[in-house]
Order: sequence, then structure tokens, then C-alpha cells
Amino acid sequence: MAQKILVTGGTGYIGSHTAVELIEAGYEVVIIDNLSNSNIEVLDGIEAITGVRPVFFKGDCNNIEDLRRLFTENPGIEGIINFAASKAVGESVQKPLLYYRNNLATLINLLDLMPGFGVKGIVFSSSCTVYGEPDKNPIDETAPIKPATSPYGNTKQISEEIITDYIASGAPVKSIILRYFNPIGAHPSGKIGELPIGVPGNLVPYMTQAAAGIRPMLTVFGDDYNTPDGSCIRDYIDVVDLAKAHVIAMRRMLDRNDTDAIEIFNLGTGCGVSVLELIAAFKKATGVDIPYKIGPRRAGDIEKIWADPKKANEVLGWKAKVPIDRTMKNAWQWQCSLPK
Ligand code: WQD
Repeated sequence: MAQKILVTGGTGYIGSHTAVELIEAGYEVVIIDNLSNSNIEVLDGIEAITGVRPVFFKGDCNNIEDLRRLFTENPGIEGIINFAASKAVGESVQKPLLYYRNNLATLINLLDLMPGFGVKGIVFSSSCTVYGEPDKNPIDETAPIKPATSPYGNTKQISEEIITDYIASGAPVKSIILRYFNPIGAHPSGKIGELPIGVPGNLVPYMTQAAAGIRPMLTVFGDDYNTPDGSCIRDYIDVVDLAKAHVIAMRRMLDRNDTDAIEIFNLGTGCGVSVLELIAAFKKATGVDIPYKIGPRRAGDIEKIWADPKKANEVLGWKAKVPIDRTMKNAWQWQCSLPK
């Protein structure tokens, strides 16, 4: 009997790619999403890739009655991967209460319901944002958690504390917290990818839209940082590599009884890449120029951060494998498949 996994926010960018990898690894997937930042057609893409259409439940994770109904209608859920959250850094500064209510209530509701429905564990989608501006790079899981620079980042820090305190209180659940660096790219099939609504906040979707002529010009937010080419450095991780890490984490959490109740892993490639280097990598991989100009710094941006993924490599047995040129090709393939 296949283990049943609930993927909250499963029609979203990382959620949909993770649903594909879970199905391909033999899990049964149930998705809950309120479709506030994604669309139902993503299920068609998941089905086109895997041949399986996951059970879909339209609902709000911050409505506990929706969740209770979901667990009642889908008995036997053993694990949860929680992606459902608002995630735009800039928007979180403008609408902090929306972020605290949505992101924290969602997690609290899930944790509250887990024991009663026999759910053994939750994989939590966290972010390298919890580290703030690192004192040194690469950064491992022992690095200090710095004061959040946005309500979004703060919800990730508080969520990690909620999980820790809940399990410390004796709750019969486990958790693996995954701190993502910068997820980018799209599934190689071209059937699913990032679908930003409105003007993309993140770099790569803006890049591919500029390359496609949907946006006139990419603005590079600053080239006067203390980095080799002056632009910010990040650890860009292919979304399929990231999705595969969730499957490994879920299997470890559910099938092993010799692991700690809570484990934390940085998920990155271990390589820092600058904005200008990524633009050059896109051109090299696709032959397509990205029109760009240098603009002022973006408030709140971190200068440089990249992961030390040693713990995930050695303990999870996971390693980022997709080379950046393949990621760029997949991102471009996906962009070209979208209506202009
Ligand atoms: C990357 C770099 C920008 C757009 C955020 C969240 C993180 C995660 C990923 C959710 C920066 C530069 C960007 C543009 C640019 N979110 N940039 N022009 O800010 O590192 O991380 O998104 O999980 O938690 O904090 O990602 O893609 O916005 O920016 O020059 O039009 O690209 O300045 O240096 P970021 P990003």
C-alpha cells in the first residue's frame, strides 16, 4: 500500500515539482491549495509527467475546518510537506498581518491536527532567509539565526520555533526542516514550471520574461556590492534537485525510527553565483540575450549567501546534480511554452 502524503500548496512552483517526484517515488499524493497564487491546470502538468492525477482539495490551510475535512475525507495520510505560505519578501513588508496570519496559522493548524489523524511527520519549507546576512560563506546549519529582515523571513524563523516547541512539548510527531537557498528552473519535460502572477519579484522568471520580450528590460539591482563583479551572489538550486530532496527527507522521517525528532538541512549547491554570472550563464546555455541595465540596490537584499550542503550530502545522501546550463535551458523551454 503506497504511503499517502499531503502536499500543502501543491499546485505552486516547488510544491508541484515535489508532487511529481513523490508520485514517481511511489507515494500517493493529496494536494490542498487555495489557488491564490497558482492555478488548477498545474494538475494537468503533473498528470502529463507522471500519468497520475493527485487528489486535489481546494481549501485554505489557515481554515482548520477545511483541514479537518481534508483529513477526514482522505484517511491514512502519514506525512505532510508544507509549502502553503505567502512568500513575497517585498509584499510581506507592505502586508505583515497577512503574512503572519497565513503562514503561522497554516502551520499551527497542521500541527494541531496531526496527532489526531495519525500523521507521523511534517517536512517544513524554510528558507536561507533565516540566516540574514551571513558573517561568512559558505553557510552551514550551525550558523547563527539573525534578526529577520522582513516579515516573510520572520514567519520562517517563528515557524521553525513553533515546530521545535511543539515537539519539545511531547507531541508525537517528527519534523525535517529544509532551508532552501534560491530555487530556480523548471521540469525538463516542459510541463510544469514557475508561474509568477503579475510582475515577477524573483530574478529568473524576470530574466526569462525579459528574454521573451514580455518585459522590456531586466534591472540588475546594484553592481556596487563587495563581490567580484559587484552584483549580489546567491546559491541557485535547480527546482528538481530541490524536489528530490523532499522525497529523501520524507522517506527518512517516516521509515527511520533512529533519527532525531527534528532535523534541519540546508539545501543548496554549495556554489555562489552572481546576478551577472547568471545572466551570462543563460546566454551561454540558450544563445538568447537578456536585455538588462544596472539599477539601484533593492532594499533588504543580502549581499552574498551560499550554502555549505555537507550535512544534506552526508546525512540525507542528497546532492544537487543539475548543472546550471541545463537549469537555464529548462527555464527558457518553460518560458517559451507559456502564452505571451
Ligand atoms: C536574487 C538576486 C536580487 C530580481 C527571495 C527570498 C527567498 C526565496 C527566494 C521564497 C538578488 C537580484 C532580482 C530582479 C535583480 N523566496 N534581482 N533583479 O531575494 O535572493 O530570495 O526569493 O522561498 O526566501 O528571500 O531572490 O530572485 O528575488 O533575487 O537584480 O529583477 O537577484 O537583487 O540579488 P532572493 P530573488
